[in-house]
Amino acid sequence: MSKLPGNAGVSLLGDKSLEFYRDPVSFYRQRIEKHRSRVFQSRLLNRPTAFICSVQGMRELLCEKSNLFVKDPTDLMTNVYGDTVVTTNGEEACLLRLSLTSLFTGRCLESWTDYITSVCERCLKDLSLSGQPECVYTVFKQLGTELVLGLYLNVRPEEQPELFQEITELCTQHWHGLISAPLSVKVPMWSSGFSTAMEARDKLMEIIKDKLENDTQGFVGSLRSLPLPDSSSASQHLLLFISALIPKALASLLTSFTLALSGNEQEETRRRALTDAVYMQGVLLEVQRLWPPFIGGRRIADQDSTLAGFHVPKGHGVMYISHSVHRDPEVFQQPDSFLPERWSGRNAGQEHFLCSFGSGPRNCIGVKLTDAFLKEACMYLLKHYDWCLEPPSQDLEYKWLPVSRPANPPTISFTRLDPTRSDKIDTR
Ligand code: HEM
Repeated sequence: MSKLPGNAGVSLLGDKSLEFYRDPVSFYRQRIEKHRSRVFQSRLLNRPTAFICSVQGMRELLCEKSNLFVKDPTDLMTNVYGDTVVTTNGEEACLLRLSLTSLFTGRCLESWTDYITSVCERCLKDLSLSGQPECVYTVFKQLGTELVLGLYLNVRPEEQPELFQEITELCTQHWHGLISAPLSVKVPMWSSGFSTAMEARDKLMEIIKDKLENDTQGFVGSLRSLPLPDSSSASQHLLLFISALIPKALASLLTSFTLALSGNEQEETRRRALTDAVYMQGVLLEVQRLWPPFIGGRRIADQDSTLAGFHVPKGHGVMYISHSVHRDPEVFQQPDSFLPERWSGRNAGQEHFLCSFGSGPRNCIGVKLTDAFLKEACMYLLKHYDWCLEPPSQDLEYKWLPVSRPANPPTISFTRLDPTRSDKIDTR
């Protein structure tokens, strides 16, 4: 069993959090090159931390040895969103997942189909109308917000525009608490942005509690009837589900999809994705492989263990980096190229080597909903538009935190397709 390559540094002075959060991709690339290993250690959040950049390491961490690596109950998510499934462990986490998953699968998910279709139609139908290029990330974030607030709170902008606006703004302020919290390990949790975020949280909680008291139908009604550990659990989870995090992640994927398929040179890819469901699936997998919305996830070693053959001592943090796992050349040949065909060729059946939605027993519970929504939105775009960058030359360099997207918001010009076109859609 080998020692983790790299240096976990000394307390405070050796902390590399700032370097990591400034540019996580350069951070891991430099160290992989230096240590010639896709698993290495450094110091993050003032804790010695193993960084996992390989498919094998990720699978061991999240699947095979998931019982040895636990969620951190002191995570920032707990401070900002309260006690939710995200930072719970053991039996409590299992029971919570069992309850909550029922809200995002099966009949619940089926009952949302019409709403998903109508939101996509409403937000995407006018993209070519102004004749001006659209800032796609903003359009898609609005779409994601309408989806989330409509589904979970039954608040729709066409019915209650002021309440919709108020909740959207509060969610954004609340979200800023997560990113404004200082990385300083000396004075954790204090900044003016953080206290504003906590005020926003209190206001959101009032709205949520009112809904939980008065709504008996829809998502809120179903949530109320779930067996949950205590009386505040339903409201804490509702706060989590409506958080700005989710519309941002959806907008991230839709922006990357639009960019990957933009321009005349991608016309054939767009046509094929529209008419061939298997190919479309490959496109969506390639989008999440190359541009996962979240950089990864974090665990704490509950006991001495190993990952990818390296000793990981009890108490070490462990950070899996989706961006690098998805570019592991052992599994993905030409890792930086956008190749949808790989998913029906060499990488067929290897979707579980991706971790954009986590993996294993603590994977994302919203993955089926996200899949249904993305397919609907992307198919709507493909069916109705051609699109290209406008202006044609833009700086598309990505930033990876808090959510991946080009640092400079890209603008895209949409042209409506001739509605009489007779592409046949293969819905296999
Ligand atoms: C593009 C959209 C989304 C992305 C990229 C995403 C990504 C992720 C990832 C990477 C994890 C695992 C984190 C870890 O390993 O530490 C996760 C967990 C989770 N996701 Fe999502 N998610 C998305 C949408 C949603 C939606 C729509 C919901 C439901 C409202 C949701 C609810 C959750 C919950 C509750 C967990 C925690 C599960 C647990 O800890 O057991 N997510 N998500």
